[in-house]
Amino acid sequence: MTWRTADVLLLRGGTVVTCHGRTPADVLVREGVIEAVKAGLPAPPGAEVEDVRGLLVTPGFVDVHVHLRDPGALDSETLESGLEAAAAGGIHHVFCMANTDPVNDAASLTADLVARARRLSPLSLHPVAAVTRGLRGTELTDFAALKAAGAGALSNDGLPVEDGRTLRRALERAEEEGLRILVHAEDRGLAGDGAVDARAAVRLRAKGIPVGAEDVGTARDVGVAVEARLPVHVCHVSTMGSVEIVRHARRAGAPVTAEATPHHLLLTYDEIPEGDTDFKMNPPLRSRADVDAVVGALLDGTITAIATDHAPHAPARKAAPLDRAPFGAIGLETSFAVSHTALVATGRMPLERLLGLYVEGPAAIAGIEAPAVATGRRASINLIDPDAEWEVVPARFRSRSRNCPFKGRRLRGRVVGVVAGRSLRRF
Ligand code: DOR
Ligand code: ZN
Ligand code: ZN
Repeated sequence: MTWRTADVLLLRGGTVVTCHGRTPADVLVREGVIEAVKAGLPAPPGAEVEDVRGLLVTPGFVDVHVHLRDPGALDSETLESGLEAAAAGGIHHVFCMANTDPVNDAASLTADLVARARRLSPLSLHPVAAVTRGLRGTELTDFAALKAAGAGALSNDGLPVEDGRTLRRALERAEEEGLRILVHAEDRGLAGDGAVDARAAVRLRAKGIPVGAEDVGTARDVGVAVEARLPVHVCHVSTMGSVEIVRHARRAGAPVTAEATPHHLLLTYDEIPEGDTDFKMNPPLRSRADVDAVVGALLDGTITAIATDHAPHAPARKAAPLDRAPFGAIGLETSFAVSHTALVATGRMPLERLLGLYVEGPAAIAGIEAPAVATGRRASINLIDPDAEWEVVPARFRSRSRNCPFKGRRLRGRVVGVVAGRSLRRF
């Protein structure tokens, strides 16, 4: 099923939930803009009435870390399949990383992504352009031109920025353009050609990545930003050490932000079945103590966003030994449900706070206005069934890829509908 459109839409009988609280209310959307949020609204003539009784009505989600494989590896993901997967996950703002083929390091490529996304979907695509040409070396891309073309942020994700001095210059230039730099913090020398966390390497008969590869990378990137007094955003924090570095910097007042992925919240390396490459991602799955540290960081405000690092790889590409398969797991279609299962269903966090990690937190990092279910705002709304229990069956995903480490799991909570402007769909 694809999008339906409605000039006048009344969402009737739901409970509006934001990071501030919840209240039973109907929501009236006219020509894509929220006109009223109030209990017992009458349906205007000609309105399409959507029965949302029993459902939560929330702002649309923002995901600052997504890989689409367009251009370059369309068997793994296209703009179209990626935006479809985002819709199914309630993700209205998709920040797509630059490590495509060719690399998104030029304004023409950024502009092409934005233009094509507009034709394909009512969701918003924000290309994240490369920090350096070809993700290599020290030659910065043209930040001003990229911003003008629609870039939403800058990142060499997949790789760290090669040297600290280049990162420093990039932070300075990015600040001038009002773009945030998102760092994949990693010491490539320490990581070597490892495939899994070093502590699980013997059991999995694969090469190990030491924890220090992330910790040293985070220390460098945060250290450079702190000294420059400039903002930096640390992607996919997964170790106790990284959490401590980010926490320490934030307590000292530095504008350092960080994200966690759903897989690093729910899974440890002990759950990796031998040889299953769907569990190979970078950073790798960690220990229980690391998972607890990441959850603790979400609870105490050290980490202010959950981002998927949706990293699709077609089945044929993942069909390799652990040491040779590409890094990455898909996440768009399970993101909210996994976090809800790990954090809300276990009583560790109220839903309102989780919404903050999907809406206000990431919006602030990326510098966009956070979606809100409020009069006068463009409709960017999710319909959520918090009690839905469902089994993850990757074959049913809209993503072109199937590399999902949550396959076969039962999750609690599901996005069952999306309103974006005048477009609506139910799942
Ligand atoms: O798991 C990952 N997937 N980590 C990365 O660093 C790159 C990403 C990708 O592009 O597949
Ligand atoms: Zn990364
Ligand atoms: Zn990534």
